[in-house]
Amino acid sequence: MGVLHEATRRLLSSLGRPDFVASVLEQAGHAFRADAVRLALLPRRGAAGFVHAYGSQKGPADALVEELTDLALRRSAPLRGPEGEEGPLQVARAEGYGSLLVFPLILHESKLGSLSLWRRTGQVPFSSIDLERGAVIAAEVAMALENAALHQQLEATADELRLARDRLVRTEKLAATGRLAAGIAHEINTPTQFVADSVCFLGQSFSELLALVGAYRKLREATAWGPADGAVIEQLARAEKAADLEYLTEQIPKAIERALEGISRMTNIARAMKEFTHPGRREKSPSDLNRALESTLMVAHNELKYVADVERDFGDLPPVTCVLADINQVFLNLLVNAAHAIGETGRRGKVTVRTRTDGNDVVIEVADTGCGIPEESRKKIFDPFFTTKELGRGTGQGLAIARSTVVDGHGGSITFDTVPGKGTTFRVRLPIEARSVPEEESR
Ligand SMILES: Nc1ncnc2c1ncn2[C@@H]1O[C@H](COP(=O)(O)OP(=O)(O)OP(=O)(O)O)[C@@H](O)[C@H]1O
Ligand SMILES: [Mg+2]
Repeated sequence: MGVLHEATRRLLSSLGRPDFVASVLEQAGHAFRADAVRLALLPRRGAAGFVHAYGSQKGPADALVEELTDLALRRSAPLRGPEGEEGPLQVARAEGYGSLLVFPLILHESKLGSLSLWRRTGQVPFSSIDLERGAVIAAEVAMALENAALHQQLEATADELRLARDRLVRTEKLAATGRLAAGIAHEINTPTQFVADSVCFLGQSFSELLALVGAYRKLREATAWGPADGAVIEQLARAEKAADLEYLTEQIPKAIERALEGISRMTNIARAMKEFTHPGRREKSPSDLNRALESTLMVAHNELKYVADVERDFGDLPPVTCVLADINQVFLNLLVNAAHAIGETGRRGKVTVRTRTDGNDVVIEVADTGCGIPEESRKKIFDPFFTTKELGRGTGQGLAIARSTVVDGHGGSITFDTVPGKGTTFRVRLPIEARSVPEEESR
């Protein structure tokens, strides 16, 4: 009987596997010494008809089983027969079944179907003990069916949740890209501004110099045929004064330098962006992580500069085999989190980025002097959607994605130390050579 209990429990996972249901019914047949065991389930909403299951012996006709199921469900009590009473029980006798038990399957007032046990004429009829034991098994079957239905519902809900999560990740990525793009636009704006100012200054200076050159020309023409007259020299002195020649001599080279510097900053930002996104490189390749950190710091500059000074403590790193675009996203999230944590304190702070080699690994640390992580949040910070930030500032996916990239994608680890009120250090450890972990196509 214990086996049967176990078997009915396992029905839970069996709805999609008819063989297994059949073997459960087969076992029930042995346990009750029945010639046939039938499981009949009422039509599901929207479905065509009853669902029947049986062991190796199909036994009675489906129509008869269905009629008996209806009868047992109407009475909400097991039927035992045939003892000279209603129609379907008579039919059973006519078909050669001398004894049968029909258990209605009802759970929380919802009618599911029936479980029935059949013995041929000539066999010992089912006893009242069989009736009691059968009722227990039927109750378990009903529960197992309910669980299976719940299980299916849960699976469907989980699928929906997965889809919703994927949608959110995409939206969040777009939003994050939008925020970063705004930051970078701002970054590019500053050098553009001083390139524009310098060029404008150079333009004005050029017209002033032209005026001066005009005056010199006049002087040259005037002196071509003899000494210059006082009026022309006077005019020249006035032109030099108007042009402020000394000032121009000093300022023009500076303006050129400023313009060139601005252009080089813009070029750097463009290069950093390009290196950061690494378009098209989804496979692992040996990468210079110090350089990657530099470009990520540039991308995060706009988030960091108002709240913190950045200190670099870079060690010598060998090329690390990784999907650089994904690792850059990890660094970016750690830097932005650090900036936010310092922002929380209302004081200007410091972000220290350290790198070093440790055996076969490299270790990258991002330390901040921010608010720290309170005890109650520590277990949850890597959970998807755990965030303490207001809407629009964070969605709680940064660290979840970071962990999946580092651990699942690269066989590394990500840990942290934190002291509330003092700050937090996140530590990413990556193997230098890619370990054979299932290559996850990160989204
Ligand atoms: N350096 C840090 N200092 C203090 N708290 C942190 C730090 N990094 C993460 N946290 C905490 O962990 C939570 C989860 O971080 P995570 O990066 O996963 O999400 P988020 O920053 O809130 O949102 P998202 O990264 O999706 O924009 C944060 O909301 C914050 O409470
Ligand atoms: Mg974050």
